[in-house]
Amino acid sequence: MIQAVRGMKDILPPESAKWQKIESALSALVASYGYLEIRFPLIECTELFSRSVGEETDIVEKEMYTFLDRNGESLTLRPEGTAGCARAAIEHGLLYNQTQRLWYQGPLFRHERPQKGRYRQFHQFGVEAFGFIGPDIDIEVISLSAAIWKKLNLEKQVTLQINSLGNLDARTHYKKILTTYFKQHESLLDEDSRRRLNSNPLRILDSKNPMLQELINNSPKLINYLDPESIQHFELLCQGLDKLKIAYKINTNLVRGLDYYSRTVFEWTTDKLGTQSAVCAGGRYDGLVETIGGTPTPAVGFALGLERLIALLEIIYPDEKEEIIPSIYFVNLDNKAFAEALVLVEKLRESGYRVILHCGGGGLKNQLKKADKSGARFALILGEEELKSGSIIIKYLREAREQEKIALSECVNYLKRISP
Ligand code: HAM
Repeated sequence: MIQAVRGMKDILPPESAKWQKIESALSALVASYGYLEIRFPLIECTELFSRSVGEETDIVEKEMYTFLDRNGESLTLRPEGTAGCARAAIEHGLLYNQTQRLWYQGPLFRHERPQKGRYRQFHQFGVEAFGFIGPDIDIEVISLSAAIWKKLNLEKQVTLQINSLGNLDARTHYKKILTTYFKQHESLLDEDSRRRLNSNPLRILDSKNPMLQELINNSPKLINYLDPESIQHFELLCQGLDKLKIAYKINTNLVRGLDYYSRTVFEWTTDKLGTQSAVCAGGRYDGLVETIGGTPTPAVGFALGLERLIALLEIIYPDEKEEIIPSIYFVNLDNKAFAEALVLVEKLRESGYRVILHCGGGGLKNQLKKADKSGARFALILGEEELKSGSIIIKYLREAREQEKIALSECVNYLKRISP
C-alpha cells in the first residue's frame, strides 16, 4: 500500500470541520483589522528563499524541498510565507507608494525531523504589513495576534516574548562582539554552534542545548548595543503593549531562525505542547523587500502554526467536537423516486437545508439505517406509493414523534414551518 510521505499529515473529517471553523474565525478577525487576503504559489525560485531567509539558516541549509524542474531551473516548495508574499507584492506593484495589510494561509514545507507538532508539510496563517515604519504597526500586528487568543479563549495558555534586533549596523557590530565572546569559550561550544560561530553567531543564542545555557546567559546582550532609533522604537512598542495590557517578557536571546528580521521580533509560546512550544512568531523585516529586488519598504508580520493551534485547542477543550451534520437524509426507493428527489433536494438546499440524497439503492430498512447514522434530524421518504398519491413521508429521527405524510408540493414549506 502506498502511504503518505513521512511528516505529511492527512486532515480527515470530522477534523477538517475544525480546521474550517478556525480558518474562518481567523480570516474574519483579520478582516476586521482591514487585512486583505493574498494567495501566492507553493513553489518559488530557490533563490528567493536563499536570499531572504538566509544562506546560513537551518531552513535554507537543511530543510528545503528543492528540485530542478524540467528546464533545469532550481525551484523550492515554500518553507515559509513571508518571502513569497513580499515577492508577489513587489512583482504586482502593491508596494509602490502605498501601504498594504495582507494575510494568507496554506501549506509550507520543511524537511525537519518529524515529531509531535512538527511536520514536513504544515500550515500557517500569516499576516504581513508593508510600508509602515512603525512602531504603531508593530503594536497593531502584535495586538492582532493577541486578539486571536482572545477570540479562541486561549489567552491563559500562551505567553509573549519580545526582543529587538536593532538595525543592520548595530547587529553587525554586535555580531563581532558576540563572536569574540564565544571564541574565548570555543572549547565549550557544540558542533552546531562552532559552525555558526563564523557564519551566524546570533543563532548560537537560540541553541536549546542545556550545556550551553550558562554560556549563553552570560553572553553580551544585543539590547545593550542597539542604535538609538531602535531603542526608541522598542520603547514605544513596549508602551503600546502596556497600554493594551498585553503581557510580555523581554527575552534578549530571542533572535529567530530566519535572517530577514530587524528590530522587533516576537514569539508566542505555550507550555502545553511539549518541545514544539512556539505557536506563533514574527517580527519586523525592513530589509527584505530590498534584498529581493524591491524598493526599500519597511514591513512586519507574523505566522501562526495551525497544527499547533489546533492541537492546543484539543488539549484545552477536549470535548468540543465539530461535526457537520445534515438536516435531512432523503430516502428514495426506486428510480422514479430518485428522479423526483433530485429536483426536490435542489429546492431544499436552496432553502438552506443540508441534505444528503441517498445513492446506491437498497430497501427502506437499509436506507433508514444510513439516515440514522448520518445524524440527520429528518428522513424524507419517497417510494412508489407516495409518488402515486403525490405525497412524501417525513420521519423524525431524533424525537418521539409519529411520522407524517404530507403533500409533495408542500414539502419545502412544511419543513420551513417545523424547522426554519
Ligand atoms: P517561523 O517561526 O519559522 O516563522 O514559523 C512560524 C510558526 O509556524 C511557528 O511558530 C510554528 O507554530 C509553525 N511551524 C514552523 N515550522 C513548523 C513545522 N515543521 N511543523 C509545524 N508547525 C511549524 C515564519 O515562518 C515567518 N515567516 C513568520 C513571519 C511572518 N515573520 C514575519 N512575517
